[in-house]
Amino acid sequence: MSTVLAGHGLTKKYGSTTALDGVDVEVGERDSLAVMGPSGSGKSTLLHTLAGIVRPDGGQVLLRGDRIDSLGENRLSALRRKRFGFVFQSGQLLPELPAEENVALPLMLEGVPRGQAVSRARRWFAPLGLDGLEKRRPGQLSGGQAQRVAIARALVVEPDVVFADEPTGALDQHTSEEVVRLLTSVTREQGAALVMVTHDADVAAHCGRILQVRDGRISGHSQYTAV
Ligand SMILES: Nc1ncnc2c1ncn2[C@@H]1O[C@H](COP(=O)(O)OP(=O)(O)OP(=O)(O)O)[C@@H](O)[C@H]1O
Ligand SMILES: [Mg+2]
Repeated sequence: MSTVLAGHGLTKKYGSTTALDGVDVEVGERDSLAVMGPSGSGKSTLLHTLAGIVRPDGGQVLLRGDRIDSLGENRLSALRRKRFGFVFQSGQLLPELPAEENVALPLMLEGVPRGQAVSRARRWFAPLGLDGLEKRRPGQLSGGQAQRVAIARALVVEPDVVFADEPTGALDQHTSEEVVRLLTSVTREQGAALVMVTHDADVAAHCGRILQVRDGRISGHSQYTAV
C-alpha cells in the first residue's frame, strides 16, 4: 500500500481533556478508512488533525511523506483547498447558489474562471445520480441529493484525500446506504483516499478498514476483505 496520509503519535489536549492520546494511522491510495467510537472519543479531532484543521500538540501529519502539521496557516489552507475534499453531516452548501455553482466553488476559489469551473462541476452530476438537478438550490434538494452535491463538491478539485464526518448522520437508513455507496465508489474511482467518521456500522462496512477510537486512542482495527 502506498501511503497517502499518515499521522504518527498524534496528541491533542483541550484544557484538561485529552482528545487524542498518541494515535498512529495510515491511509493508502484508494484506501477507505472508517473511524468509529463513542461520542467524545476523539473521532472528529482525529479527522480535523489529519486534515490540517486542528494542529496537534505532539506528533506529525504527513501527506505523501511531507509534513503538513508544521506549515504556516496560509500554505496549510491552500493545501487543504487543493489536496483535500470535505463532506460534513449537513448544512455545508450555500443556500443562495444553484447546485452546480456550489460544486464549482472550490475551483473558483483556486482562480478557475466561473464558466470553466461550472462546466467542470457539471461533469460530476451524472456519476452521482444528480442529472437534471444542476440548477436547483439546496433548499429544493432532498437530504440525500444535497449530500451527493456535497460529495461532488469535495471531489471536484480531484483531491488526494476526502474527509467525511458523519456524512450520513442526517439521513434515513435507505438514503444513507445510497449516499455511502456513491461516496466510497466515486472516491475510489477518482483515485482518492477516504477517511470517514461514522456511528453507523452499516455505513462503516462500506469502507476497506475500520478504526475504533476510545478515549483518544486506537482501541481496535479491522480489515475488510470484501471491499
Ligand atoms: N474545540 C474544542 N474545545 C474544547 N474541547 C474540545 C474541542 N473539540 C473537542 N473537544 C473535546 O475533545 C473530546 C473529543 O471530541 P471530538 O469532537 O473529537 O469527539 P467525537 O468522537 O467526534 O464525538 P461525537 O461522536 O460526539 O462527534 C471531547 O471531550 C470534546 O468535548
Ligand atoms: Mg464528532
